[in-house]
Amino acid sequence: MATPWIMDCDLVIIGAGVAGLSAAVAAREQGLRTLIIDKGRWSEGARKIPRYPNAATKIAQGGIAVTGLTDQEETTPLSEALAVHVADTLDAGAGLCDKTAVESIIAGGGEAVQKLIDVGGVFDRTARGEWKRTREGGHSVRRIIHAGGDATGAEVQRALEEASAGIACLQNARATTILTDKDGVLGVGVNDPRGVGYIATPAVLLATGGNGQLFNVTTSPEGVRGEGLSLALRAGARVADLEFTQFHPTVLFDAKRIGRRPLISEAVRGEGALLYDSAGNRLMEGIDPRLELAPRDIVARAIALRLAETGTDCAWLDGTGIADFHKRFPTVTENCLEAGIDPQHERIPIAPAAHYQSGGIVADTYGRTDVPGLFAAGECARTGLHGANRLASNSLLEGLVVGFRVPQEARARLLARGKISSGDIARAWARDARAHQRDYPYGDTPVQRRQERRQLQKLMSSKVGVTRSAAPLQEAVDELTTMHTTLSRRMHDTVQLCSMIAEAALLREETRGGHTRLDYPAQNPDLRYSRVFALNSEGDPEHTTEIHPQPRQNK
Ligand code: SIN
Repeated sequence: MATPWIMDCDLVIIGAGVAGLSAAVAAREQGLRTLIIDKGRWSEGARKIPRYPNAATKIAQGGIAVTGLTDQEETTPLSEALAVHVADTLDAGAGLCDKTAVESIIAGGGEAVQKLIDVGGVFDRTARGEWKRTREGGHSVRRIIHAGGDATGAEVQRALEEASAGIACLQNARATTILTDKDGVLGVGVNDPRGVGYIATPAVLLATGGNGQLFNVTTSPEGVRGEGLSLALRAGARVADLEFTQFHPTVLFDAKRIGRRPLISEAVRGEGALLYDSAGNRLMEGIDPRLELAPRDIVARAIALRLAETGTDCAWLDGTGIADFHKRFPTVTENCLEAGIDPQHERIPIAPAAHYQSGGIVADTYGRTDVPGLFAAGECARTGLHGANRLASNSLLEGLVVGFRVPQEARARLLARGKISSGDIARAWARDARAHQRDYPYGDTPVQRRQERRQLQKLMSSKVGVTRSAAPLQEAVDELTTMHTTLSRRMHDTVQLCSMIAEAALLREETRGGHTRLDYPAQNPDLRYSRVFALNSEGDPEHTTEIHPQPRQNK
């Protein structure tokens, strides 16, 4: 076995989207020695390669839903405006949001967005200098600020990358394990171009994003596969609400293309675009009084059901009535033109695609998880903000608020835990190596891995997709059980995650939020709980149900 390389720091951040980089910026203010781990391949000289290619943040379009920025609520008192934002979030979350978490994150939004602006974020303003605000599905007022029209995520990512410049980053590096003892986190095992090594640290933030690439068609970048959840589970944390995959209703359709597909922002509907089926009927009429601006689970479900009824592959979004479409939506315009569609003059073919993981690692609104020293923020975390279906544009908000909060908790952890001794970390490393046979050669090839991933994506989209029912879900659970033994060992965590999603979806016999059961089309008030998974001593998932799960260390 090769000797591992060793480093040490005060906080390791895994992932470099909005949550990870907000935490990096705040960690510098807290005086923490911080190290970012990013698995994306990039090199300084290659201008075309984005710096953090797996960060979904940079391709977010709509904006940041925020209440409490200056110039806002001229006519409405702040407390009332916050209450309306909370009410919209709870409504979209279909009974599973944790109201205390929702209130905490929404109340923290104004300050967090102001901090982003203070470190260089630039958002669109009117000629009078006020924030331009838009609406998306489920928002009862215009509260979503945006940048570059529909390039909000790119601006958030740019501003945070610049503000965190100079903070050490291990590139092309993959976190393989979180090292712990009875008192919590001791370090992180990493594989990078030098080989296998570990970082001694009392605090680790998982900011690894969602799991969109577990599905056939998604808005998520290539590397977004839910790895943070597997790391957290193996470290002893729990995950919850995995059945609530959010399918975005309007993703640019092309029958010949799978994998990542361009989003057609909900803000396009917020500015007045209408949805039609293939026969030219208004698709949302008779479904929800809010029509195109119903929360996205309702719109995605309506589209999926109409496609099934009519035996068609796509519906149509008509934004031709929006003045200067290309100025308001430059990113959407560019993506449509590349596909040969002029959105100012033609309807856009769309279909739902996997977009966001509403569940994730059980964490509180300060990022604390079940394991002392292990934090989670952004899409990989389940704070209780999103419930069964995230309200549009609440995700950048959550990443900023929780990301900025984590470092003060990490500092408290550093003071409580002290420096990690070389003996403690070496023992944890040896224990982990025995448990996970880390240096055992995998023997698979990149081609084999790609094929296996495709096999999983096809299964998940066909049997655990936008509309679900018992028989295909049971088949998915069974096929995934077989795949545990037939796919290469490197796929173990991904298969395990897919199994938990499929099992949670099978067990939830109702339609709620992002989870649509054709065989149980109504919501069941008795099922107003979360399904929570943990690994047992054999490393196999076991589940329980809980109302508003909280990190164990907070109890
Ligand atoms: C969109 O622009 O439609 C996506 C915004 C979001 O996912 O919150």
